[in-house]
Amino acid sequence: DIPALKAHFAAHFKIGMAADPGGYKNAVANPVILKHANSITAENCFKPASLAVSPGVYNWATADELAAFAAANGMVVRGHTLCWHQQTPDWFFTGTAAEVRARLETYVHDVVTHFKGKVACWDVVNECTSDDASSAYRNSRWLQILGPDYIEHALRAARSADPDAKLFINDYGTEDPAKFARLMTIVAGLQAKGVPLDGVGHQLHVSTTSPTPANVDNALRSVAGKGLVNHVTELDVSLYNDPGSCFASRTGCAADITGDATLLAAALKAQALQYRALFNVFKQHASLQSVTTWGIADNSTWLSGFPIARGNRPLLFDATGAPKPAARAITDAG
Ligand code: XIL
Repeated sequence: DIPALKAHFAAHFKIGMAADPGGYKNAVANPVILKHANSITAENCFKPASLAVSPGVYNWATADELAAFAAANGMVVRGHTLCWHQQTPDWFFTGTAAEVRARLETYVHDVVTHFKGKVACWDVVNECTSDDASSAYRNSRWLQILGPDYIEHALRAARSADPDAKLFINDYGTEDPAKFARLMTIVAGLQAKGVPLDGVGHQLHVSTTSPTPANVDNALRSVAGKGLVNHVTELDVSLYNDPGSCFASRTGCAADITGDATLLAAALKAQALQYRALFNVFKQHASLQSVTTWGIADNSTWLSGFPIARGNRPLLFDATGAPKPAARAITDAG
């Protein structure tokens, strides 16, 4: 077996895993998260689609269960996420701009207040960066209705509700230098205006060949240079090296390889090398305080449905909860 990851990396960063109660209570995942994690992120049950029933009406039950589980088992909670263009009820976006802004601020205030003292940090704004060079900002409904200031409104509302919670902007693709530069343009604008912001979350949904660890190294250094903390928030290493277009069009995605023993063995080997290379970079950054995998074990991963339905095994533990070559690679690494 391998050492507890939370102990092995204690001098560097917390080890987190993402799951909802259904994801961490099953017999495969439960021993894994209890042994290895000292941080937890709700995979879905902290999102507006789960919490926000109607304006001012909330469904706290599942999220409260997760927060209690974390407190009972020595884990901090990363709150994910308050303001996103997905998994948010349509009624958030109805009415005048003034009404939408007030609704956003009220939602952030109510949720952050509810979890005050129980959630260490929030992904206040998720995926606000554009995927192309047309703009720094994703052309989301938030942007269309409120303009770029929606980010500031959400961050200020979160800070005033819980001054002790650390506030993050979280995004995927920070390992792509062009997209990362757009994110940092947004960050610089916020800092110039004195908007409360403590850190950048790097999702790091990666594959066995991309990104190069050097890109991650550069991004982490650049964030630290702005006086901000880094978190790796959603790490997984897909077995598939899909073309970028696959994510948008769902065509051109690689076919399922999990039935082919030869291809699968090669992919798991490459995955272990990628995990090791990434953790070797992670350990060099004092500004990196938390590393979370997006899931616990391969029995349950969002990548079995995204971008297409196919077998995938992107995590450190296999479908029985046993450590994979990747888990050995990161604990053996010098
Ligand atoms: C995903 C969950 O894993 C899925 O269960 C859900 O159906 C969709 O959302 N980026 C994020 C996460 O910030 O919230 C997403 O989580 C994965 C991509």
